[in-house]
Amino acid sequence: MKVTVVGAGNVGATCADVLAKNQVANEVVLLDIKENFAEGKALDIWQAAAINNFDTRVVGTTNDYSRTAKSDVVVITSGIPRKPGMSRDDLISTNANIVKTVTSEIVKYSPDAIIIIVSNPLDVMTYAAFLTAKKPATKVFGMAGILDTARYKAFLATELDCSPKDIQAVLMGGHGDTMVPLPRYTTVGGIPVTELVSKEKLDAIVDRTKKGGGEIVNLLGTSAWYAPGAAAAQMVEAILKDQKRVFPVCAMLDGEYGMKNIAMGVPVKLGKNGIENIIELQLNTEEMALLKESEGHIKGVMDVLDGMNLF
Ligand code: NAI
Ligand code: 2OP
Repeated sequence: MKVTVVGAGNVGATCADVLAKNQVANEVVLLDIKENFAEGKALDIWQAAAINNFDTRVVGTTNDYSRTAKSDVVVITSGIPRKPGMSRDDLISTNANIVKTVTSEIVKYSPDAIIIIVSNPLDVMTYAAFLTAKKPATKVFGMAGILDTARYKAFLATELDCSPKDIQAVLMGGHGDTMVPLPRYTTVGGIPVTELVSKEKLDAIVDRTKKGGGEIVNLLGTSAWYAPGAAAAQMVEAILKDQKRVFPVCAMLDGEYGMKNIAMGVPVKLGKNGIENIIELQLNTEEMALLKESEGHIKGVMDVLDGMNLF
């Protein structure tokens, strides 16, 4: 099995490192536009093989897409990250061009690959990659929900002083401040979270989750990479091992939740065919209203993409 990770920066290199450490594929190709950058990162990861006990080959290339040929899965992380004071949406003019160019090259050399988008603004970049790739929506989708849910679980685990492994949760909508964590679908060791945490504390955790990306940007001066890289790698593993895991994933919708022609976070089953199905939850009126608000926000960013006349 072969995986390409485009963008050898913070998220891309972390994703490649996790893929190698977990021996998810036989070969991981890291590609970056910056001269010798991916080669250096790949060599460093490969030199850890004897220490971390893996045999996944990790190689780097400066923009030579022939090295990515016949990849089974491609993760696209190329693009600029946020700086303090920026929203993910501020990245669109630079990243839309990058995502379009990269996706075209990838499809040329790996026509059958499943493509996972990470670049921001995530929902609209997933839409842009879908338009470029001209592949079924089951094969082009984005990573955000696993990260956002992991942040929610981390905050809950801190509050409850319990293992995050015992928290089950789902979060929907766009990858932005209008994302929709769903306390009604959150359990801790099978116990509804609402029985363990007061409404006031839960509301504060939901709010912190929605602003979780910005919290890290303010601390670091750039966006997160450990959790995002691990989240993208987890999606790759679910696909390559045909695990049929249920994750929130940014998927193109075709009538699900009453929405069409938009990519946003919904629970899906991930396996060797990519998105094997989208799970439609019975949302209540309040949850549905929050999802509609998130849809409205994503559509506003899609309008900016439309204005760029790239498609
Ligand atoms: P970074 O700046 O560390 O790495 C980005 C890399 O992309 C750089 O090495 C750059 O040279 C490369 N690049 C730029 N244009 C390229 C092109 N045309 N072809 C190949 N490589 C190219 O940034 P970082 O922190 O890795 O973030 C990457 C992207 O992921 C950002 O857009 C960021 O906002 C997004 N992100 C998304 C998350 C999510 O949950 N979906 C979470 C974290 C970051
Ligand atoms: C994050 O949520 C910025 O999308 C990036 O960390």
